[in-house]
Amino acid sequence: MRRRDFLALGGATAATTLLEPAYAQLPDFGRGFVWGTATSSYQIEGSPARVGGGTSVWDAFCRRPGAIRDGSSGEIACDHYDRYREDVELMRALGVGAYRFSIAWPRVMPEGVGTPNAVGLGFYDRLVDSLLAAGIEPWVTLFHWDYPEVLYKRGGWLNRDSTQWFADYATAVVTRLSDRVTRWITFNEPEVFLVLGHHLGVHAPGDRLPWSEILRASHNVMLAHGRATVAIRATAKRSCQIGYVAALEPAIPATSQAADVEAARRATFSGVAAWLLDPVYLGSYPESELKSWAKDVPAFPAEDLRTIRQPLDFFGANIYQGKLARAGADGNPERVARAQGAPRTLMEVFDVVPEALQWGPRFYWERYRLPIVVTENGLSGCDWVALDGRVHDPQRIDFMERYLGELALARAAGVDVRGYFAWSLLDNFEWAEGYRQRFGLVHVDFQSLRRTPKDSFRWYREVIRTNGASLKGRAPR
Ligand code: FCB
Repeated sequence: MRRRDFLALGGATAATTLLEPAYAQLPDFGRGFVWGTATSSYQIEGSPARVGGGTSVWDAFCRRPGAIRDGSSGEIACDHYDRYREDVELMRALGVGAYRFSIAWPRVMPEGVGTPNAVGLGFYDRLVDSLLAAGIEPWVTLFHWDYPEVLYKRGGWLNRDSTQWFADYATAVVTRLSDRVTRWITFNEPEVFLVLGHHLGVHAPGDRLPWSEILRASHNVMLAHGRATVAIRATAKRSCQIGYVAALEPAIPATSQAADVEAARRATFSGVAAWLLDPVYLGSYPESELKSWAKDVPAFPAEDLRTIRQPLDFFGANIYQGKLARAGADGNPERVARAQGAPRTLMEVFDVVPEALQWGPRFYWERYRLPIVVTENGLSGCDWVALDGRVHDPQRIDFMERYLGELALARAAGVDVRGYFAWSLLDNFEWAEGYRQRFGLVHVDFQSLRRTPKDSFRWYREVIRTNGASLKGRAPR
């Protein structure tokens, strides 16, 4: 398949070459397109326990021998807690209009529930003020995996009370920040903390629960999302926009044949992906999974689905890669192997598949009809400070150039794409990989904590300054 062979959503029309000439005048990201960068609390701040906060399941998991590949933890991480001013200055220099960060629940509520900790909330207060002073809009994620350890000991997401704990925590944060913050994200990537953390045991809390328990925890997470969304709307002092962010690996049609496009569409919405999306956006669990997982699906009151499906303002998409699919002989989707030696990133599980940023937004827009915001995209590279004092990361530039080119094609195909957040501002603690993976636009020396903007930082600054016009004519062929 040639990447630019499609224009029509859904691939119902025959292959065309319409996008090629269109791209000559593109990319057009449109007025008001949000250019941002993203981080998360545990990966950059330093543990809340250092300053009177509580501990999270990640603090505990990092202490398990062998859990983190380099034996490290987020204890200090980038020490963003003490250096946030410098980091906001970096973002001002980068020229981003928005910054997506997360709040550490144990920092705000050391006991997980109850009276919020003034010191913890005070930190986010100052951060939000500095961002606004720098002309950067805060996009606040309420949960990016650092679950309070005390609540985990009370059953965590398996306990239905967790839905209320989360809504109460959301209320406390929104009460404090919503005079200035108007963009809220309830959850980051439920599929990752549920499957990697609770089923495979390779992320915190390191459990290996059977599938029935995972489906129960998933249901509670989505119910928590619904309850928190209601709480945010009821509490917010200003009209706000709310979203939910999923980890996505869309399928890309192997050819322009309608059957392959349909196979890719079906593959995109199969398994855990649709299970954690459909209830939130459509108010129902997907039929085929209800059938295949029947014995493991928990019983729940029918009104739960109404609570889970709240009106949302955008579809948050974390997209790093995709898989190639085609229609098999029986018409069912089948995966197509990548060519030998096809490009990969340093993070073993992430291949370079730029088309994911075209086909993902197309399929998600088609099914859920909400504006798409790419809330994370980026790559880990082998970056270090060179003898000239700079950090040369041409592969990150090429990667982003390719992915943004595809995103522009999704827009050209009529998808309402509203924003793009580069993961990440800083090199940081990459979960079970520790500090071995560097995703930042800014290099961090983890001994001195010195920050050095990489070449990609300057490149992205130009993309932002020109609203993407600097990408013009450099689409991958
Ligand atoms: C995503 C996570 C983010 C970071 C990137 C590389 O799955 O949301 O915290 O780890 O991957």
